[in-house]
Amino acid sequence: MISFRRSRLLAVTLPGLLLLAACGSNQTAEQTSTPTASAPADSASTKSAAMPTSASFGKTTDGTEVQLFTLANANGVKATITNYGGTLTSLLVPDKDGKMGDVILGFDNVSGYQSPEFVKAGPYFGALIGRYGNRIKGGKFTLEGKEYTLAKNNGPNSLHGGLKGFDKVVWQAEPGTGADGQSLKLTYVSKDGEEGYPGTLTVAVVYTLTNDNALKIDYTATTDKATVLNLTNHAYFNLNHGAGKDVLNHEVTLPADRYTVVDATLIPTGELRPVKGTAFDFTTPHAIGERIGQVPGGYDHNWVLNTATGEHAAATVYDPATGRTLEVTTDQPGIQFYTGNFLDGTLKGKGGTVYGKHAGFCLETQHFPDSPNQPKFPSTELKPGETYHTVSTYKFGVRK
Ligand code: BGC
Repeated sequence: MISFRRSRLLAVTLPGLLLLAACGSNQTAEQTSTPTASAPADSASTKSAAMPTSASFGKTTDGTEVQLFTLANANGVKATITNYGGTLTSLLVPDKDGKMGDVILGFDNVSGYQSPEFVKAGPYFGALIGRYGNRIKGGKFTLEGKEYTLAKNNGPNSLHGGLKGFDKVVWQAEPGTGADGQSLKLTYVSKDGEEGYPGTLTVAVVYTLTNDNALKIDYTATTDKATVLNLTNHAYFNLNHGAGKDVLNHEVTLPADRYTVVDATLIPTGELRPVKGTAFDFTTPHAIGERIGQVPGGYDHNWVLNTATGEHAAATVYDPATGRTLEVTTDQPGIQFYTGNFLDGTLKGKGGTVYGKHAGFCLETQHFPDSPNQPKFPSTELKPGETYHTVSTYKFGVRK
């Protein structure tokens, strides 16, 4: 089943593609600050709306200055995103008493994301993941009769795009504003052969902070050669981050009757196993910690969402301590629910918070891991002339 939605794409992405053509050439500062044709910023009602603000986020190890953009809405909700790795670094949302708190694991400056300990541990805090979210078995796949070899950066497998995935590149950033809210458009052109993947891939990701307290992430991409693609975001959430506690009390619901069974190296065996009667059954709410002991290593699996296409519910989370809720929707067929099993307290984040085991959880909307080697899984192939387009939304609320 191909789930790239082509019909809807042209109208939405054509203006973006025009912009991307400009990004490929030497863009002038003036062009960079011109609102995109795709942003509804031209209408009279939105013209005066405030733009996201930006500040320096420091210099990367190779001396490139990167920025931190703050998107805000009328409710006081704020998201900060850096163009280093397209990383979501914080998200301030209210609790049941209206108190604002950050719910994202991360660091105060770019050095945190580039420290040797962080790179070695590879937790990918908040980053955009590409070209391929999760693992590809043996770092190899065959497409149109040709075998491609990727870097093995996770035991025998390739994980999250390889040694220098989209999480480690500097994206071109363009803040915007429109009827939906403030936005940040990030673009990146990945060269043919980059990290072993075929085709020049032109990617645009738009983060929008909506007025109903949702962070919407809209991904588009085109290629000039057949390739595989599975883009996602790797935010770690802790709806009570400020308390410095783990997330085991958070209650999770996943509308998924099956999950993909994995081998010892976390590669799917191909089996889609029913969750019924197991610790993987989140079709009704369960605290993360309730049955995690029954899952060796903790949760780090892809759930097969009951609905695979069109916008659908992907996950709901509730934190009884703060009353905060998170609802995830997507058009993707799967979601990786990962409970920060490999965090071990060596990383110290914002405000000195120590990130120990289960300090956060990830809900990575995605196609299934290792799809390029699993003909029965929904296809992740992208061909020239097609446009990859997917949207996932993380909406915050409270329950009193
Ligand atoms: C993977 C984990 C991995 C984590 C951080 C998740 O998407 O499923 O196995 O440890 O990302 O790299």
